[in-house]
Amino acid sequence: MTTIFLPDIKATEQLGIILGENLTAGSVILLEGDLGAGKTTLVQGIGQGLGITESIVSPTFTLINEYTEGRIPLYHLDLYRLEPPEVTGLNLESYWEGIEVTPGIVAIEWAERMPYLPDSYLNVCLTHGDNGTRQAEITEVECDFENLLVHRLL
Ligand SMILES: Nc1ncnc2c1ncn2[C@@H]1O[C@H](COP(=O)(O)OP(=O)(O)OP(=O)(O)O)[C@@H](O)[C@H]1O
Ligand SMILES: [Mg+2]
Repeated sequence: MTTIFLPDIKATEQLGIILGENLTAGSVILLEGDLGAGKTTLVQGIGQGLGITESIVSPTFTLINEYTEGRIPLYHLDLYRLEPPEVTGLNLESYWEGIEVTPGIVAIEWAERMPYLPDSYLNVCLTHGDNGTRQAEITEVECDFENLLVHRLL
């Protein structure tokens, strides 16, 4: 696990930009953390890193927003309003398997609600620190993000 201190909004966006510039199609980012911890802000950075100019807004009511204008597609999901059994019915795996859907980056807010997980993913847990700051705890599961994090962030 890697812990990254995010003193301000720019730092959260910059972490997203690095991910958006470097991740390959089929990457899944599971975002966890309290209300307002910065999950959407991070995804906005990912969009910037991919070269998406359209503004990225939280899909709390639409469940999923798709952006196809960047280097590779971005699928932004928000499971806040769902219970795990409802998530099962969404067939989320079609996004990371990339069979019916063009492979891209899949970013899922409130991933705590997922009843099952992909084989490989990057887990980003955002928490509140002192004085309005945030920190990100990043865990790689069966994927090679370590190099990216070591070379670009630390
Ligand atoms: N590192 C940071 N330091 C201080 N403020 C931040 C930081 N990152 C994001 N913020 C601010 O925190 C607020 C909430 O951010 P955001 O909407 O991204 O959180 P969220 O985790 O997506 O919330 P929700 O749980 O409602 O989906 C925004 O005003 C955002 O600008
Ligand atoms: Mg959000």
